[in-house]
Amino acid sequence: MTKQEIINETIDFVKERMADDSSGHDWWHVYRVWNMAKKLNKKEGGDLFIIEMSALLHDVADWKFNEDEERGIQLINNWLEQFELSESNILRILNIIRNVSFKGAGVKDKMISIEGMIVQDADRLDAIGAIGIARTFAFGGNFGSPMHNPEVKAQNHSSFEEYKNAKGTTINHFYEKLLFLKDRMNTNAAKEMAAKRHNYMENFLKQFYDEWDSIK
Ligand code: ADP
Ligand code: NI
Repeated sequence: MTKQEIINETIDFVKERMADDSSGHDWWHVYRVWNMAKKLNKKEGGDLFIIEMSALLHDVADWKFNEDEERGIQLINNWLEQFELSESNILRILNIIRNVSFKGAGVKDKMISIEGMIVQDADRLDAIGAIGIARTFAFGGNFGSPMHNPEVKAQNHSSFEEYKNAKGTTINHFYEKLLFLKDRMNTNAAKEMAAKRHNYMENFLKQFYDEWDSIK
C-alpha cells in the first residue's frame, strides 16, 4: 500500500468515528487540523507522512472520549499495525498523539519532534479565534457546563488531574486554557497566526462583559 493509500484509509476510519460529535471534536475539526498541519509543514519542515497521520488520528485517543487514554492509544496502535509501517514510525506517531493535549496552565508541554510541534500548533490554532470561541461554547453545552457565572472564579490548574476533573464555566475556559495558547505555540508560522486569533478573543470577551454589565 502506498503512503497516500494509508492516509486515505485513515481518513475514512476517522470520519466514521467522529461523524456525530457535537463537542467541537467532529471530523471537520480533524480536517482543519490536518490541513493546517500540512500548511505549517511547508514553512517549518518535518516528515509529511508522520504529520498527516498524527493530525488525522490525534483526537481518536482523547481522554475525554475514551474510558482511559491507554485504550485509545491501543486502538490507534492496532489501526497502524495493519499497514506495513516500521516500528519506529508507529512509535513516532503514537508519541505525538500522547503528548498533543493541553494538560493545564501550569503543566509544561513535552513535545520534542518538529512533526509533533506542528500538529500541536495546528490543534491549538483551532482552539482559538472565532472557530475556537464557537467550539468552546459547543463543548460547554455538550459537557453540561454553565456558560458564565460571575461568582465562579477561573482556576490555574497545576496538574493534569486537577485540570481534567475541574467543573468550571465556559467563559472561565478562556482563562484556564485559551488565552495561554498564543504563548505556547511551537513554530513561528503558528505564532504569527495565533496573535491575530488571540486578539479576536480578547475583543470578544470585552464585548461579552460590556453587554453583561450594561444592565447596571
Ligand atoms: P487538546 O487537544 O489540547 O486536548 P481539548 O480537546 O481539551 O484540547 O480541547 C479542545 C477544545 O474543546 C478546546 O479548545 C475548547 O474549545 C473545548 N474544550 C475543552 N475543554 C473545555 C471546557 N472545560 N470548557 C469549554 N470548552 C472546552
Ligand atoms: Ni484536536
